[in-house]
Amino acid sequence: MTKILLVGCGKMGGAMVRGWRKDETLDIVIVCPSPKEQSAHVTWIDALDKLDPAFMPDVVVLAIKPQQMAAVLPAYARHADRLFLSIAAGKTLSHLAQLIGSPHAAILRAMPNLPSQIGKGITVVTANTAVTSQQKQLGQSLLESIGLVEWIDEEILMDAVTALSGSGPAYAFALCEAMAAAGEKLGLAPELAATLARQTIIGSGALLGKSCASTAELRVAVTSPGGTTAAALLPLMDQENGLFPLLEKAMQAAYARAKELSS
Ligand SMILES: NC(=O)c1ccc[n+]([C@@H]2O[C@H](COP(=O)([O-])OP(=O)(O)OC[C@H]3O[C@@H](n4cnc5c(N)ncnc54)[C@H](OP(=O)(O)O)[C@@H]3O)[C@@H](O)[C@H]2O)c1
Repeated sequence: MTKILLVGCGKMGGAMVRGWRKDETLDIVIVCPSPKEQSAHVTWIDALDKLDPAFMPDVVVLAIKPQQMAAVLPAYARHADRLFLSIAAGKTLSHLAQLIGSPHAAILRAMPNLPSQIGKGITVVTANTAVTSQQKQLGQSLLESIGLVEWIDEEILMDAVTALSGSGPAYAFALCEAMAAAGEKLGLAPELAATLARQTIIGSGALLGKSCASTAELRVAVTSPGGTTAAALLPLMDQENGLFPLLEKAMQAAYARAKELSS
């Protein structure tokens, strides 16, 4: 049995547990102030001092808010010889090691994104040098419960990851809003415009997920020369004022803010 100690079980922790429940080789203890119902292999406690001293976790998963980390993590120092897996935004490996009280603690820092809540996220992970390859495999398999997993060697790239996949779902929602608003200006009723925009994004995303073609190939395939889509793509793909420079500006802003917030 792999023993997991999950700290915090809100939106993200809850999503991970939903995936883990299906795996009978996992023995999970959840520390959370508002416990939910127990089940086979899942035990809830509302405070760390209720943890059975005989329970030796293979991994401590940190799914609390970043701002709670400094207050909560030091109490887990007694597990400093175990693997820690943090999904807290902006909390660096060295900062987490400091809070655990051991420069040699094995720590994985992961950045999931919003669709993880329905098992369709993408999580980027980085490890410190204390993490073994076996521990990396464990981290990979635990994070796969909420979607795809990618690894990076350089932690410094985590701010770029935050600007792309971390904040990215909001860009897709904003695109959907902008399409609906433009549809309204063309005379469509607000409700119909919203439905058309939403289902267009949902359908295109699902198609993208199923297709082996690149996004550029899909775009070209739907664009007849001289047609309506080609007319729309002229301003959209403009190199100075189109979508590319706009998104670059937006993501530079997210990147700069991620750098400011990280500790
Ligand atoms: N949501 C996302 O899309 C997303 C994306 C990327 C990264 N993340 C990261 O994921 C982490 C969790 O985010 P979330 O959205 O799941 O937050 P959340 O829904 O607020 O969950 C946090 C959980 O921690 C619990 N908690 C509070 N104090 C605790 C303590 N002392 N010990 C144990 N548990 C405690 C809370 O319980 P109560 O509610 O009872 O207080 C709550 O269940 C954050 O660090 C965030 O940066 C989230």
